[in-house]
Amino acid sequence: MLPPDLDAFFVANDARIRGELFDLLRIPSVSARSEHTADVARAAQWVADNMSTAGLRATVHPTAGHPIVVGEWRGAGAGAPTVLVYGHYDVQPPEPLDLWDSPPFEPAIRDGRLFARGSVDDKGQLFIHMKALEAHLKVRGGLPVNVVVVAEGEEEVGSDHLAEFVEAHQRELACDSVVISDSSMFAPGLPSILSSLRGLAYFQIDVTGPATDLHSGSYGGAVVNPAMALARILATMHDRDGRVAIPGFYDPVRDWGDRARREIAALPFDDGQFRAETGAPALGGEKGYSTLERVWMRPTCEVNGLLSGYTGEGAKTVLPSKAMAKVSCRLVPDQDPRQIERLMKAHVERVKPDGVTATVTALHGGRPWRAELDGPLYEAARRALAAAFDKPPVITGEGGSIPVVGDFERILGAPVLLMGFGLPGENAHAPNEWISMDNFTRGLRAVAVLYDEMGKQGV
Ligand code: BES
Ligand code: MN
Ligand code: MN
Repeated sequence: MLPPDLDAFFVANDARIRGELFDLLRIPSVSARSEHTADVARAAQWVADNMSTAGLRATVHPTAGHPIVVGEWRGAGAGAPTVLVYGHYDVQPPEPLDLWDSPPFEPAIRDGRLFARGSVDDKGQLFIHMKALEAHLKVRGGLPVNVVVVAEGEEEVGSDHLAEFVEAHQRELACDSVVISDSSMFAPGLPSILSSLRGLAYFQIDVTGPATDLHSGSYGGAVVNPAMALARILATMHDRDGRVAIPGFYDPVRDWGDRARREIAALPFDDGQFRAETGAPALGGEKGYSTLERVWMRPTCEVNGLLSGYTGEGAKTVLPSKAMAKVSCRLVPDQDPRQIERLMKAHVERVKPDGVTATVTALHGGRPWRAELDGPLYEAARRALAAAFDKPPVITGEGGSIPVVGDFERILGAPVLLMGFGLPGENAHAPNEWISMDNFTRGLRAVAVLYDEMGKQGV
């Protein structure tokens, strides 16, 4: 059962809430691009102003990078629990623009889907929390729990300044639990609680040979080709069974056990449908594991981008002077990004052909995370999701990363609940990103009920 008073608020304010969401989505807060720095700042101010109007005390904290917005409501008193809500207001670059059916920063609803960059990742989901809090404060004048909202502007570029901010503000951010909506449900109509995230270790590999590009006839065959050298290096990263062949890579990997594998196998999942979603001719990966196991509980090493030599129209006979690859490893417990960096550097140094130099630069990293899902926080989440979606939630894993989750747990000592409202195929980071309007509506209700349930459960 949904609380009628809050439900009535959402119904009565539906048009205004949508309008505000559209306004937020119109701000191109692309954290990766310096030309958007002012837009990122504008989005931070927008979030702070909107939280103030909702009844929170909001502050914009500048950092060496993009600002962190903190919104607080402490009216439940010192005896009541405190929940920290985290989300990010920055978005991924929208390119390639010509593949969008409507412009990325002009929100548009088609077939029950709201299309815009950031609609699901993560402005739309952060906004769900902002409006659920507003509903409580406007309708009832308060909440059963104290709330601190932390909205970040650097998630999509590695959250470089968040951990130090949390360290420096431990007292203000002290809390009993952390709630994050920055993930997806397992399937339409199937609410989900996330129990794991992979970590990340992201590298750039630069291979350098001759001082300039050379005539491939005059020099080819006598000078080591950096593009070929890079290809050789990359070819050593996996063995025939799809295992990562960097020595020591799997040493810290924890076995998830038969129970986890059985639970994963019990989820309604279809390889054919997953393949169709990707448009790939076939699926592939590490031998001995199912698709979901490969994505959730096994680590990877993948090329994200390659650059070398002549790539324009027609043929140009040239031997490139350099070659570059962006390579990322997704990590699982208990792999550590720093350790993976050491292993990657040692490996590249070892396999690099003579006659070129190869350097490995670590660009960013984050630790993997896995939760034990019991206790009152998860009970509250189960009830809230069941009330809003008319179905109890499933427990799922995730192949993506939210590096700050581990930081919150470590620094604040509070359990983290990940409850997201995206859907498979939502095109996060890709053209035509969307959020389901039904999920948005139900997500609002679920989060509003969650705060009530947290009060009841004392978390
Ligand atoms: N919201 C995502 C994380 C995520 C991805 C959750 C897929 C659930 C499903 C987050 O914004 C993200 O994109 N994270 C990056 C981290 C990186 C930029 C450090 C990622 O996973 O690539
Ligand atoms: Mn996100
Ligand atoms: Mn993202």
